[in-house]
Amino acid sequence: MSSPLSPAVIDAMRARTPGVRSTTHFNHAGASLPSAATLEAIHAHLLREASMGPMEAGAAAREQTERARTLAARLLNAQPVEIALTTGNSPGWGAAFAALGPWRAGQRILVARHEWGGNLATMRLVAQRAGASIETIPSDASGRVDPRALEAMLDDRVRLIALTWLPANGGLINPAAAIGRIARHHGIPYFIDAAQAVGQLPIDVAEVGCDVLAGAGRKALRGPRGTGLLYVRQDFLPHLMPAFVDTHSAPLDANGDPVLRDDAARLESSEASLALHCGLANALEEALEIGIDNIRAQIDRTAQTLREELAAMPGVSVLDQGVERSGLVSFNVAGLDAMSVRRALATQGIAIGSNGVAYTPFDMTSRGLTQIARASVSYLTTNAEVDKLLAGIRTLMR
Ligand SMILES: Cc1ncc(COP(=O)(O)O)c(C=O)c1O
Repeated sequence: MSSPLSPAVIDAMRARTPGVRSTTHFNHAGASLPSAATLEAIHAHLLREASMGPMEAGAAAREQTERARTLAARLLNAQPVEIALTTGNSPGWGAAFAALGPWRAGQRILVARHEWGGNLATMRLVAQRAGASIETIPSDASGRVDPRALEAMLDDRVRLIALTWLPANGGLINPAAAIGRIARHHGIPYFIDAAQAVGQLPIDVAEVGCDVLAGAGRKALRGPRGTGLLYVRQDFLPHLMPAFVDTHSAPLDANGDPVLRDDAARLESSEASLALHCGLANALEEALEIGIDNIRAQIDRTAQTLREELAAMPGVSVLDQGVERSGLVSFNVAGLDAMSVRRALATQGIAIGSNGVAYTPFDMTSRGLTQIARASVSYLTTNAEVDKLLAGIRTLMR
């Protein structure tokens, strides 16, 4: 049973989060605030590296540094062999995409209109060179990608379906599992960008039916910057030939032949920050301890309150679409551009995000939007912080 967290539990977690004392943070979708224990885990490994030598520390602390993989697998209902540890969302997503190999003229990539701009850029570079196409799957009236519309677009030239589960520019949640059922039924590779979903939504990769799912450590999970998770379904691994390999992903055998790993680590690099992996492991452990269902319930409650309060303010338009909503709240303030709203709130000690078109170009363009202000909440967010944000916005409009 999921339930929002009690104020006492939230207070206790805030007491263990140094950042909440110095900033009013509404940019958890950009990057959240790590706990003191996550910082300590990073620091402890850096100290081990400094005292033993980094290579020796890596060998000695293998158990700690590998914990992130095991915990990430638990978080996603996957196997540890299906998890690669990466340095962010795009490095994982991009490595998996590049590993699909060459594209041919006429092949098709179908994307929802909320696709992350970085993924689109990656796909476009390859598609343009090969003469492949990128086509947008229509959305339903609520703005979500429409599974029936996807079904109508399919033919044997479709080589990839890509979905950004929780778009970067608002609170919409896409029906990832409904798209997955279609992708599975037709045997089409299915990539999910879960940068905003990991740590915020309960995720069961088997239920979602994806072949690849990428996530970032620094967002809802509250892990360190420079970390990410990549899930690759075990049966799909043989379809992925890394764009390049190293001594970790494909060590040479006695004959000098590269032996490509048969787990998701074939998409990892031998060089990585093990200190950050230790921090990520701690963040994962904390999220699993709280329970993702509870995190989801708490974020939903706070985001909904914020949305309702913003919608009731004259001069503010809430721009979130969809039916089910995430912790990202998008809005515009009449007469002010989003960047100015963000800058003015920053002078009051309040951090929000602001996006232009480039992060979600198809969605912004189709809705006639050029910018949005984005306040994103965490389970750490209190009602007092929501009130401070609302008061801050009122001040701007005077
Ligand atoms: C939906 C989505 N995808 C991808 C990214 C990029 O993540 P990263 O900077 O870790 O590559 C973001 C970042 O905000 C995002 O919101």
